[in-house]
Amino acid sequence: MYFSSPKLSLLSAAVLLVSSVMADLHDSCTCHNGDSYNWRMTTAACTVYDEAKYQWGGTYYNSTTGRCTQRASEDQLGGNEWEDACKRIASTGFQCADGVGTCFANTEDIKGWC
Ligand SMILES: *[C@@H]1O[C@H](CO)[C@@H](O)[C@H](O)[C@H]1NC(C)=O
Repeated sequence: MYFSSPKLSLLSAAVLLVSSVMADLHDSCTCHNGDSYNWRMTTAACTVYDEAKYQWGGTYYNSTTGRCTQRASEDQLGGNEWEDACKRIASTGFQCADGVGTCFANTEDIKGWC
């Protein structure tokens, strides 16, 4: 064997650290279209995100805070996956401000805010 185990465990620790940094975890998030927070996108994205059943746990839309929130205190939202959920809603459609039609948005204008 040419590998010493301290080196290997250092390597696996580094890999773990990098993957947890890359996961970019948060307690709650919202969707922004351009400069403005959009609660109709946020509620829809919250459902899409929750149904994707990511490894970090579930979410629900808290109507008091207007944020997509961790379902339990040990649950977290992945920032990149959340932004993907916002963009998906922008392209598949969400409720318009008038509550009647379906609206769409340019995915390039969509940001996940956490
Ligand atoms: C929503 O958030 C508020 C403020 O953090 C909190 O007091 C409330 O319990 C939350 N609602 C639910 C349904 O968990």
